[in-house]
Amino acid sequence: MATAAPEAIIEAGLREALRIRFYPDPVLRAKSVGVNFAYPSLRTLAGRMLETMYREDGVGLAAPQVGLSIRLIVLNATGEPSGERVIVNPRVRSMSGQGASEEGCLSFPGIRLTVERATKIQIEYRDLDGRLHDLTADGFLSRVIQHEIDHLDGIEFIDRITPAQRSAVRSRLKELERRFKGQS
Ligand code: CO
Repeated sequence: MATAAPEAIIEAGLREALRIRFYPDPVLRAKSVGVNFAYPSLRTLAGRMLETMYREDGVGLAAPQVGLSIRLIVLNATGEPSGERVIVNPRVRSMSGQGASEEGCLSFPGIRLTVERATKIQIEYRDLDGRLHDLTADGFLSRVIQHEIDHLDGIEFIDRITPAQRSAVRSRLKELERRFKGQS
């Protein structure tokens, strides 16, 4: 399959209302491409993603979750205006520590999972003004960032759980699979 240019992906995404993609939509498994932070429509798209995230009571949303395979994430781990971040082309510099905590995902409605992750992460990313940020995060913000960067790499949080945990949510996953089949 040919990879579309990031600009074409953005323009296609803006032609209609953003729609959350649910498991097992294959777009959630695609690897996303880097994007030019100076491309004007990127700001429009990020704004719409933030609206969608807040409307759905999410704390983070990655572009693949609205069907767009580009390296763009919006998040707000605190719910305060100051907690809002638009992350373009993140690169993980280091991760350390290990801890388990509960997560949800807008693409997996009705499922909460305790996921083991690094406790601390250091990333580099661009904002919409092209400024380079070097961010070190721990706690909940670190977890949100890791979960969303996973989406850019086609990784879902069910990839990070034990077989026993997976059995526990198996019927709910089957239900989502049936629902997806019904709409496609
Ligand atoms: Co998610």
